[in-house]
Amino acid sequence: MLATDVIYQEGPPVEPAALGRLFAAVGFKRSQDPAHLLAMVEGARWVVSAWVGGELVGFARAISDGVSNAYVSTVAVHPEHQRRGIGRALMLRIVEGRGDVKFVVHTSPAGEGLYRSLGFVDASAMLVLPRRS
Ligand SMILES: CC(C)(COP(=O)(O)OP(=O)(O)OC[C@H]1O[C@@H](n2cnc3c(N)ncnc32)[C@H](O)[C@@H]1OP(=O)(O)O)[C@@H](O)C(=O)NCCC(=O)NCCS
Repeated sequence: MLATDVIYQEGPPVEPAALGRLFAAVGFKRSQDPAHLLAMVEGARWVVSAWVGGELVGFARAISDGVSNAYVSTVAVHPEHQRRGIGRALMLRIVEGRGDVKFVVHTSPAGEGLYRSLGFVDASAMLVLPRRS
């Protein structure tokens, strides 16, 4: 695959079923409920997706007020397309040209290398995770 074979799309729509397949492929334990997946896309301020031959192979989003703070989440590249620069290209489209917006990300070990390569640094953070009953 050449880098030019990848088409990047900014903003919705991203079909919930395709998103669910991508999340399953990278091992995200996310709901497969279409309404839930749709809300993840529509509730985000910035959404970028990557497509190869009509297949969704990458996704990233940020939840933000648009001017001061943003939370980057759910960055995923299909395993068959990883280490080809797609994650980096998605992230650059999310963070570049956003003025004074401060971005934070809750990463996994898999994402650490990517975020560090983009200038993200360690900072104090506290999390409260949803209770699963
Ligand atoms: C994290 C993820 C999105 C990276 O996507 P990707 O398309 O493979 O990343 P890129 O090819 O753009 O990598 C850019 C740089 O990030 C770093 N990087 C990416 N994956 C890495 C890994 N597994 N280990 C160490 N560094 C890594 C490298 O510096 C890389 O540059 P290089 O290939 O020239 O060395 C992808 O591995 C993924 O979807 N993982 C599963 C889901 C996940 O954990 N997401 C992050 C948490 S939200």
